[in-house]
Amino acid sequence: MYTKLANDLHITEQILKEIVNESIEYQKLITDNDYFVAPKTEQTYIDSLPDDGSGALGALQIFKSKYKDKLIKTIGSRYYGFIVGGATPASLAGDWLTSLYDQCAMGIPTDVDYYIENETISMLKELFNLPNDFFGSFVSGATMSNFVNISIARQWAAKRLGVNVSEDGLYRLEGLKIFAGCPHSSIYKSLSMLGMGRNSLQLINQIPNREAMDVDSLEQELEKNKGVPSIVIASAGTVNTADFDDLLAISKLKEKYDFWLHVDAAFAGVAACSEKYSYLLNGMNNADSITIDAHKWLNVPYDSAIQFSKHKQLQLEVFYNGAAYLGGMDENPAIFNLTPENSRRMRSLPTWFSLLAYGKKGYQDIVERNCYIATLFSDKLDKSQEFRLLAPTKLNMVCFTLESDQLSPKLIHSFLDELRMTGQTFLTPTVYKGTPAIRIAVSNWKTTEKDVQIVWNQLSRLGEKYSK
Ligand SMILES: Cc1ncc(COP(=O)(O)O)c(C=O)c1O
Repeated sequence: MYTKLANDLHITEQILKEIVNESIEYQKLITDNDYFVAPKTEQTYIDSLPDDGSGALGALQIFKSKYKDKLIKTIGSRYYGFIVGGATPASLAGDWLTSLYDQCAMGIPTDVDYYIENETISMLKELFNLPNDFFGSFVSGATMSNFVNISIARQWAAKRLGVNVSEDGLYRLEGLKIFAGCPHSSIYKSLSMLGMGRNSLQLINQIPNREAMDVDSLEQELEKNKGVPSIVIASAGTVNTADFDDLLAISKLKEKYDFWLHVDAAFAGVAACSEKYSYLLNGMNNADSITIDAHKWLNVPYDSAIQFSKHKQLQLEVFYNGAAYLGGMDENPAIFNLTPENSRRMRSLPTWFSLLAYGKKGYQDIVERNCYIATLFSDKLDKSQEFRLLAPTKLNMVCFTLESDQLSPKLIHSFLDELRMTGQTFLTPTVYKGTPAIRIAVSNWKTTEKDVQIVWNQLSRLGEKYSK
């Protein structure tokens, strides 16, 4: 055995203890709030592969000296960029163990990972109030979940048009229509990856001053397309304002028209666990497929999402991965015949840990506390002279802009850059209905009112400077 490997084998316990110490130190930093939220990095690259390695502890030293201080503290309570969530202690434990056990979690029905994944899916269905006729599997993120679900929708629509697309390809799929109101960019990406093309998506009018689809306009389009199957992609939680399509009204149209309803509930699907917010997702149960991320509001480490669909047979047609050496196609097909990957990590374990550790009440607390924090920001912004709210804050997302005659994307970027350099928080820019804007996405389980004051002090100070 190569000496460095042999030595690491000999000191495995020491390596693991070092990593535990490193983890405790990092967690302490976050808990003590003594950190720079989003440092910028300009590094020189390691210029060549070492001939002789440094061993695991040597690699750890190189990492620490080169990158450790530059990490973005997404697990802290004042990171409000994109929409990222954090990692609950139990999900972190599950994630470590996932790597330790290193299962090739193909979901073969006689293996432990199959049970853990199915148990997790079943608990999630309870958390999200989803009926049992949904099949669910873990994938790497909402983009991949949208991709999987739209591919099943494509299989469904193509069959209606007399084409078995998984066997015969796309070329006879004329007339298929795809509608959406305010789709996430990953929907376009999925359509591209599926060979359906970004331009196949037809946008439906939005309700004025909202990001929600106008259901009457959707019905008009479905009427025009009557007799041809279509795919409707509904948003449950848009990234600017956390707006929701009226899922109940849209799903009722299924009684009159032949369409597949896919719901992208990447972050906001988790709100279904709260009695206060579950009304926003009324009608989601009538969908054919649903996307929900675990690595966002479930506060599970990257990368983890769930795709749900009611059409397991179609899913099998698309993802069936037949090879004599793999088996897995008995009466009860292995999960790798239903998902894009063949070999998979035991991705369900971190969520399994977190659900068992905190249950429904734990997640209700995260959702409701995060939404409360969003209203605190929203109230302060609304009352200020320096800022303007661009939409009412419904959930955990605050969308606002600077009150300035000079308002431009450049001004917003300069403002956000200076805010970032305070080290106290990180927010991301956007454009809302043509207006350069800023988002505060609250999705970390650790965030409390104390954080609002710290961030507001910086926001209001810089607001005075930039709103002139
Ligand atoms: C509504 C929605 N859909 C899809 C995605 C893509 O998710 P992921 O980054 O997990 O692929 C996001 C990410 O923010 C989202 O908010």
